[in-house]
Amino acid sequence: MTNGHLQIVVCGAGPAADVTKLISTALDRSWTAAVTATPSALDFLDLPAIEELAGTPVRSSYRASPGGRRSLPAASAVVIAPATYNSINKIALGLADNYAMTSVSELIGRHIPTVVVPFVNAALATRLPFRRAVANLRDEGIHVLLGPEHKWEPHPPGSGNDRQRVFPWTTAFETAARHAHEAQTQAQHR
Ligand SMILES: Cc1cc2nc3c(=O)[nH]c(=O)nc-3n(C[C@H](O)[C@H](O)[C@H](O)COP(=O)(O)O)c2cc1C
Repeated sequence: MTNGHLQIVVCGAGPAADVTKLISTALDRSWTAAVTATPSALDFLDLPAIEELAGTPVRSSYRASPGGRRSLPAASAVVIAPATYNSINKIALGLADNYAMTSVSELIGRHIPTVVVPFVNAALATRLPFRRAVANLRDEGIHVLLGPEHKWEPHPPGSGNDRQRVFPWTTAFETAARHAHEAQTQAQHR
């Protein structure tokens, strides 16, 4: 019996290398976790380490692994972290040009509680398309952990390595778990 299943979607930015921190946090709280990666994220990941910890293959394409399932498992919550400038803009527009983006679109469409943790420098974050993307995602009910209220701000260009060390993996999990619990409670009262 688990408390829930966390679908993690990893994009191509430095903190992707530390995604085992999020998996470990989920496992410590008696959740299961699985990782989907964008094609760019694959270069950042230690696949054997992730797969051993999570107990499932990292998905990055439509091709199912031998013995694996094609369809998405039922997820209690989704955490997209690190979320790149590129993928945040794409998710807000509903683009589905790779397996990870298609999965995200479908999970959001199923109203699975979704948390986005951007890892974007301040020069990119100031662009109007990005600010609109964040606003549109929030309008859709997605929890974007960005801004003073989340104590997580875009970093100055070139300072990504320092910021990577304090990436808010635990907050991401706790936010997802809280919203999953709320969704479950609401469903029980319907
Ligand atoms: C070493 C390296 C570090 C990068 N760091 C970031 C980053 O911190 N934030 C970001 O938005 N993009 C970063 N990028 C650029 C993204 O990887 C690039 O925009 C890519 O197209 C993102 O694809 P994805 O959104 O499908 O993962 C980085 C690229 C490289 C090679």
